[in-house]
Parts: sequence; C-alpha cells; structure tokens
Amino acid sequence: MVTDKIAKLINEQITKEQYAAQYYLSMSAWFSSKDLDGIANYFRVQSKEELMHADKMFDYLNDVGGEIVIGEIPKPPHEFESAIDIFEKALEHEKIVTKSIFNIVKNANDESDFATTSFLQWFINEQVEEEASASQYVTKIKMVSDNPSALYLFDQELAQRVFDPAAEN
Ligand SMILES: [Fe+2]
Repeated sequence: MVTDKIAKLINEQITKEQYAAQYYLSMSAWFSSKDLDGIANYFRVQSKEELMHADKMFDYLNDVGGEIVIGEIPKPPHEFESAIDIFEKALEHEKIVTKSIFNIVKNANDESDFATTSFLQWFINEQVEEEASASQYVTKIKMVSDNPSALYLFDQELAQRVFDPAAEN
C-alpha cells in the first residue's frame, strides 16, 4: 500500500524517534547527576514516549506492507552547559521532528497516499503539544534556574509526571 519512498521516510522517522529517546535519556542522566531527580524523571518519561512513537510507526509500516529496515541510531550529546541549555535543545529538537513529520506528510500528499496522511495526523497533533510544552518549560526553567527554592519546586512539579502508554494510542 505504501511506495518505497514513503516506506523509506517512515523507516528514517522510526530511527529519528529512537534517536530522540536516546537524546532525552542523555538529558535525563545529566539531571540525575545534578540530583534534580524530578526533572530527570520528566526526560525519562519523554524518552519512553519517543520509543512508543517509533513503535507506532513500526506497526503502521507493518500494517501497510512496507519493508521495515531498522537503522543505526546516532550517539546523542552527553555534555550540556546548563539546565536552560537542555530545555532549549529539547525544544529545538521537537521543532526538527515536526519538520521531519511534515516532510513525510508532504510526500504522502504528493502521492495521494491518504492512509499515511491520516496516520500521521496523530503525530502532527502530538507535535503541536510537544512544542507548546517544551516552549513553556524553556520559559519556566529560565524563571527558576537562578533561584534554588524555585528550582526545588520546579523539580518537584516534574517529578509528578508519569508515563501513560494509553495516551500514546
Ligand atoms: Fe516523537
């Protein structure tokens, strides 16, 4: 049902989602090393969500008879300048992912591949939410990063986030 071109783009997107998972895991590790376990938890959950996104694409490609080719996941950065730096990079990364998904939608549109455009609608909505929350957290971390007690509360807030596989369906 999908052309080789669309299958290739989705295969690449699977790797990108897995890379995002690794990237967020690396960010999580940075916060853990600073004893900011709540923020570390936030990125850990974020990482798990990315793996679900990859799974979702894997299943779709399977359903439409596309050939699945698992790619190589690049090593994510390990060094970060600051908490602000990480939140800014997370936002930047979400924007890259959005562009990449838009590109698949554009190609699917060109081919009148309505199944793929319909499937990707969920991801488009997801990216709107991801960018909005990433942008909000950039603002928040800038407000609190120089104030230990505010940072403590922010860390407590992010400790509340739990991974909900049902939300990824
Ligand atoms: Fe994702």
